[in-house]
Amino acid sequence: MSLQLRVYVPDHPLIKHWLAIARDLNTPTPLFKTAMKELGKWLTYEASRYWLPTLEAAVQTPLAPAPATLIHPQAQIVAVPILRAGLSLLDGAQEAITTSSVYHLGYQRNEETLAAESYFNNLPEQFDPETRLLLLDPMLATGGTIMAAMEEVTKRGVDPNNIRIVAIVAAPPALQALSKVYEGLQIYTAIIDQELNDQSYIVPGLGDAGDRCFGTN
Ligand code: URA
Repeated sequence: MSLQLRVYVPDHPLIKHWLAIARDLNTPTPLFKTAMKELGKWLTYEASRYWLPTLEAAVQTPLAPAPATLIHPQAQIVAVPILRAGLSLLDGAQEAITTSSVYHLGYQRNEETLAAESYFNNLPEQFDPETRLLLLDPMLATGGTIMAAMEEVTKRGVDPNNIRIVAIVAAPPALQALSKVYEGLQIYTAIIDQELNDQSYIVPGLGDAGDRCFGTN
């Protein structure tokens, strides 16, 4: 694997707690959604460290002037959830970064070829080259979907160094596929699981994230 791809698994009790709730087969849909929202928030919090452009300024407190660091008002911060399951991370991500604009990408799996097929894309033709882009996809399994999404955002001008992927469970095939193409990319995930089953589900994983969020199967 390229040394340039950086995969972070934050060692944080809140992330471990909500991952355990999300993994549990007996967690009902409303609590599963809460777990995904919390994971989206805390992983985005971790991902945004050293990433958001800031502005050094000063504010006046009731007592005296004080130096201040603010998110740069001209910063272009974009969140892109990958439909369906990525929507489960969006509310939490937006709680962590309130200033982001949101575009959507939708992919579904062709059940014969297992390839990712696009069914929705409202990305602009071109992004500002300084754009910071948060790509939200809970399950990085074979890498088919995340590679397709990365191609869409980078061909519209986003620098891979300015992209953070937030996932809940990542598996080696997806990480290896990303590492071959995207140097400088950073991934934040709650856990790395080693195996995929013959239907490309991550084992132990957490099952079908979209079905568990939306109560379908
Ligand atoms: N998508 C899911 O929802 N779960 C997996 O385990 C793999 C892909």
